Amino acid sequence: MLERTLGIVKPDGIRRGLIGEILKRIEDSGLRVVALKMKQLTRSEAEGFYYVHREKPFFNDLVDFMTSGPVALFVLEGENAIERYRRLMGATDPKKAEKGTIRSDLAESMQCNTVHGSDGPDTARFEISYFFAATEIVKR
Ligand code: CDP
Ligand code: MG
Repeated sequence: MLERTLGIVKPDGIRRGLIGEILKRIEDSGLRVVALKMKQLTRSEAEGFYYVHREKPFFNDLVDFMTSGPVALFVLEGENAIERYRRLMGATDPKKAEKGTIRSDLAESMQCNTVHGSDGPDTARFEISYFFAATEIVKR
């Protein structure tokens, strides 16, 4: 199925200059970048984005981290893009992520795990429209 998914290079990835490395891995995998921008998230933007986690013990620290510097936001498109990009990222905890995945190779910790990716079709729709207007997404 042709899908779109939302990806983020998180503040730790931006600080370490990893935008190019991450987009290279994504492009090499055959996924197409159809939208891309930099943004400094406000607290309320980060809280709204991670709304499903609002009751979790890590929520406040996660919002602190996601607003600690700019992020790179992008939309990917391709056959089964959601699952393919999740596999490219690896497990949430970089210590448990498979070798060769972005998180295993590049991430620092469970919190500073360098990248975000939508986890299903409903989440992808919500997350893409949270950050991108339809007019910011290209055909390619
Ligand atoms: O990002 P992913 O979908 O793999 O994981 P999540 O369970 O949706 O959690 C969202 C984000 O919260 C993670 O990517 C981590 O940055 C952070 N997190 C954390 O700091 N501590 C945890 N125990 C779980 C998640
Ligand atoms: Mg998630």
